[in-house]
Amino acid sequence: MKVAVFSSKPYDEASLAAANGGRHELTFLEAHLNARTAPLAAGHDAVCAFVNDNLSAPVLEGLKGVKLLALRSAGFNHVDLAAAEQLGMAVVRVPAYSPYAVAEHAVALVLALNRNIHRAHNRIREGNFALDGLMGFDLHGRTVGVIGTGKIGAVFAGIMRGFGCKVLAHDVTVNPECEAAGVQYVKLAQLFAESDVISLHCPLTPMTRHLIDDAALSRMKNGVMLINTSRGALIDTRAVIAGLKSGRVGYLGLDVYEEEAELFFEDLSGQVLQDDIFARLTTFPNVLITGHQAFFTHEAVKNIAETTIGNITEFEATGQCANAVKLPR
Ligand code: NAI
Repeated sequence: MKVAVFSSKPYDEASLAAANGGRHELTFLEAHLNARTAPLAAGHDAVCAFVNDNLSAPVLEGLKGVKLLALRSAGFNHVDLAAAEQLGMAVVRVPAYSPYAVAEHAVALVLALNRNIHRAHNRIREGNFALDGLMGFDLHGRTVGVIGTGKIGAVFAGIMRGFGCKVLAHDVTVNPECEAAGVQYVKLAQLFAESDVISLHCPLTPMTRHLIDDAALSRMKNGVMLINTSRGALIDTRAVIAGLKSGRVGYLGLDVYEEEAELFFEDLSGQVLQDDIFARLTTFPNVLITGHQAFFTHEAVKNIAETTIGNITEFEATGQCANAVKLPR
């Protein structure tokens, strides 16, 4: 198939070319997919897109002749599935590539925030060896709340159990593996009220959008640590900034941000930051942000490329794909 690969970085090109082995004709495009860049897909059978590409109805309408949307991601909240179906486009994704990559990054945020590693690193470089302000807490014996115990949440819960934490979970379905590992399923209200650390691992849906808002924050412990490696819009950023200012939120670790499409994956260091809300977030000493890199391990990038090429090959051969995303009925 002829595939237009949008938002392509050198590491995408290297991993996809290696997985492809010459099977498909891949056109690597640095541009994000949007209404302006959609015509670049002319003459291609498939579009390969990443998390911050725009796959809304007007953009899909501009992808003339495209039969397949091959997502290089697990999440598909950025795709208008109804429009894709109407336009006769199949949508395929990479449902699992390394839950360990994302779960371990979430743990990295917990540890760094708790022990102020980001601040200590800066201090040492300036010759400041004072410890004031760097005191952490033992994770052992603390209560960790996990929202969404699918592939990533389950790995995260297991790691935190290994630290000796009590793990509470909330999900629309119970994961028996988590239960067997000693995770206790509770209502959201109890998870909010009892957790010292809360980590989000559920998908972004209309139901989970702004799951963490003013009301949710008001039910949490004072000084709670919030970790989001899932999707930015799970958190109402304005509410969490208010929570940081009041002290309700004691630590915030983010790998994703509501308006990240305008920022993440690009080097904008020579430009003036236009997003005042994001700028405010970066001023807090107890906020640690990474730019959607939780997935970024050798193993995950290789798996994403191999599954993506496998999806395209399967669709070309059979017109179907085991990793197709179906419109909820
Ligand atoms: P998964 O589908 O295995 O698990 C998601 C879990 O969330 C399921 O158990 C589901 O029942 C649960 N869930 C759905 N609605 C819920 C609700 N209203 N309340 C509580 N739980 C709910 O997905 P996986 O692979 O664990 O990924 C989780 C999320 O992580 C993805 O949706 C994606 O947004 C994000 N992600 C982020 C990456 C990064 O680099 N930062 C990379 C990969 C995924």
